[in-house]
Amino acid sequence: MDTLNKDDSGSDQMPKMPEHVAIIMDGNGRWAKQKGKLRTFGHKAGVESVRASVRFARTHKITALTLFAFSSENWKRPQDEVSVLMKLFKLVLTSEVKKLHANGVRLKVVGDLSPFDPKLVQKIKDAEALTQNNTELQLNIAANYGGRWDIVNAAQSLAQQVASGKLNPEDINETSFNANTAFADLPALDLLIRTGGEKRISNFLLWQCAYSEFYFTDTLWPDFNENSFLDAVISFNERQRRFGKISEQVI
Ligand code: FPP
Repeated sequence: MDTLNKDDSGSDQMPKMPEHVAIIMDGNGRWAKQKGKLRTFGHKAGVESVRASVRFARTHKITALTLFAFSSENWKRPQDEVSVLMKLFKLVLTSEVKKLHANGVRLKVVGDLSPFDPKLVQKIKDAEALTQNNTELQLNIAANYGGRWDIVNAAQSLAQQVASGKLNPEDINETSFNANTAFADLPALDLLIRTGGEKRISNFLLWQCAYSEFYFTDTLWPDFNENSFLDAVISFNERQRRFGKISEQVI
């Protein structure tokens, strides 16, 4: 299959972009260790890869980019590391939001924010309010997010609607279930990238990845740049997405 679009002159252009890409940003700790530094040095370096990914997504008109910044299981890490990660989120929110807004990026933080410092939650709310009408890119940061949490929340919300008489149980279907998940208003997840060499989903977008393409790379997150993102998109273009059909039906 042709992976690059050709214009009228036949010259190669960018590959067709997925609409919604999610990334499990893994490998910060190992990257730092390889350099003889503390793990937190890797997290700080990882912020530059976040910038590069947002730049790539915006430049190439990807509709939505969802980044796994902190899982519901990451609280189990050493207290010092959790505390540096929280400080980093605060710092990044403070330093980057104006730039994101100027570039038309709409920011949403998805996850259970209840255990976070109220000051951090306020910063998140302010950033979301400031950027809510932007349309260049929907940037979702998954923080204290878990795929099972999302599914349980949707089930609870539907159960409450049934209990209050607003919904008939027979109207619970894939569409209404999806509408109650955290990413309801987004295009389906086309491509899930995981850096750092592991080949697992780690309780990320469980409901949303039913028909996503997966791209695993050994590149550690702080080394992931715009060219790495392009490699992932090229690989995505080489896949034949059949959604249960046979090859001849989708060509
Ligand atoms: C996984 O690497 C990375 C994280 C748990 C944190 C990701 C955070 C950032 C990239 C910085 C801030 C981002 C935003 C969006 C503000 P790891 O620590 O599991 O690496 P390892 O597998 O090598 O130990």
